[in-house]
Order: sequence, then structure tokens, then C-alpha cells
Amino acid sequence: MNHPIGVFDSGLGGLTVLKEIYALMPQYDYLYLGDNARAPYGTKDFETVYQYTLEAVKWLFDQGCPLVILACNTASAKALRTIQQKDLSHIGPDKRVLGVIRPTTEVIGDYTDSNHIGILATQGTVDSMSYAIELNKFFPEVHVHQQACPTWVPLVENGLHSTPQADVEIEKCLRLLAEQSPTIDTILLACTHYPLLYDKIRSQLPSHIQLVTQGEIVAGSLEDYFIRHPEMESRISHSGQLKFYTTGDKDTFGQAASRFWGSEVIAMRVEEWKSGIVE
Ligand code: DGL
Repeated sequence: MNHPIGVFDSGLGGLTVLKEIYALMPQYDYLYLGDNARAPYGTKDFETVYQYTLEAVKWLFDQGCPLVILACNTASAKALRTIQQKDLSHIGPDKRVLGVIRPTTEVIGDYTDSNHIGILATQGTVDSMSYAIELNKFFPEVHVHQQACPTWVPLVENGLHSTPQADVEIEKCLRLLAEQSPTIDTILLACTHYPLLYDKIRSQLPSHIQLVTQGEIVAGSLEDYFIRHPEMESRISHSGQLKFYTTGDKDTFGQAASRFWGSEVIAMRVEEWKSGIVE
């Protein structure tokens, strides 16, 4: 049996993280799971995101993953802690689940000179206050300005991220963020779907504002984790294999993922969770 690194997102967004992890560590096997059938997560309540994420983690464990990365800020904000503290002891005591918020907040404070950071994220991530709370631990001097962008994930999931409609929706959210503080010099795309809109967002921002994506940060942090945890690193299979699963339509996922990945992605569909059929 293969023992890949499981990478989970509500849909396509986690591919922006997997791409950077794979670029840095192509030696490992990876199993990507997108819950496209039930995306977006960003507008769903805590209990729903937690239950969906738990199902996904169990499924990835059942596929042989010793380690799962929640490459989704919303799942990291709403489900990671409960899974780590409550569920892991009975669903996989020797397995590990990591998120994307902690590694990002550990370093993002170093990017700003003005000490004013803008966080663009889903409503769920914004409401959880996870970024403000975590950033305050590492960089208490940094002011966090959050803006939810509820229309951006549907744009990406529906393949509309290159359309003029995307420009309009981006303009609205950037304006609302700018109104919060004129001194923001760093904006973090704190939703893994948003890097798919990167060029459009960048083109609407003044050049002195840095636009930061999480993929490279998370990849670097994972590499570091393996140095600190050689016992986990040695359990991951090293054949450089990538597999892609979705709970949605496999051809739609494959086409969208291929465009982003730059080579053909053949996806498979998850037909059934242990706890029941995916609706
Ligand atoms: N890509 C996810 C994130 O990083 C969530 C998008 C969604 O399903 O709303 O927050």
C-alpha cells in the first residue's frame, strides 16, 4: 500500500498549495482530495465544516495517508483543532493532521513595514478570528484588517475567474479592505482558492502593496516539519506519484485542475464516505 501525503481542500483551491509542496518535495507521493460537491465551505457553519472535514480526513487515513494537510483555511480555522484534540486519538493515534494558518501566521508579520496587514479570506475564516488571534501570538505589534470575499470562491469553482465579472467582484472587496486602513502594505490571500485570481488582484493594487500567497510558505513549513519529525518523513512513500480525487464530477475537476496544473490531471470520484454516500 502507498502512504501518500493527503492534501485536502473544499474544492480546487488546495491545488495552489499542493503545487508548491510538490515543486519543493517531488520525491513524495501525494493524494489530493477536493470536496467540490459540497464547496463552498466558507459560508457554512462551524459544525458543518467540522463534520465534512472530519469525513475527508478519515477517508484520507483509510487510503493510507499517515499525514494530512488541510490546505484550506476555512477547514483549518473551524475543524483542525477539534480533530487534533478530540478525534485523532481514536481515528488515527499514530497519524497527524496539519493546517495552513499556523505556518502562515508564524512568518507573515515579517513581510510588513507599516505593521498593517490585510487578510482576504472566506466569511468563515474571518468570523473565526483565527488570523488575528494567531498573528497576535507571533507579532503582537501587527494590526490585522480582515475582509471577507464571499463571491470569489464560487467564481473559481465555476471557472469564472478570468471573466470581467471577476474584475468587478475583486474591485469591491479590495475597496472595502482599503477603506479599513490606508497604511496596509501587505495583503495575504488567506483562502487557497484566491491565488487563482492572483493576476487580476495584483493588477488592481498599487505597486507598493505586497500580495502574498500561502503555497510557498506552507511548503517550506512542511519541509521543516519533516526535518523535525524524521519518524513521519520515513513513513511517507517516496515514488513521486500524484493522485487526484473529487467528490464532484471527475471530468469537470480534471479539466479545471489540468488548466491550473499545466499538464493533464486525471481525477477520480469518491463514491462513498464510510459514513454514507456523498450527496
Ligand atoms: N479554499 C478554502 C480556504 O482556503 C475554502 C473555500 C470555500 O470552500 O469557501 O478557505
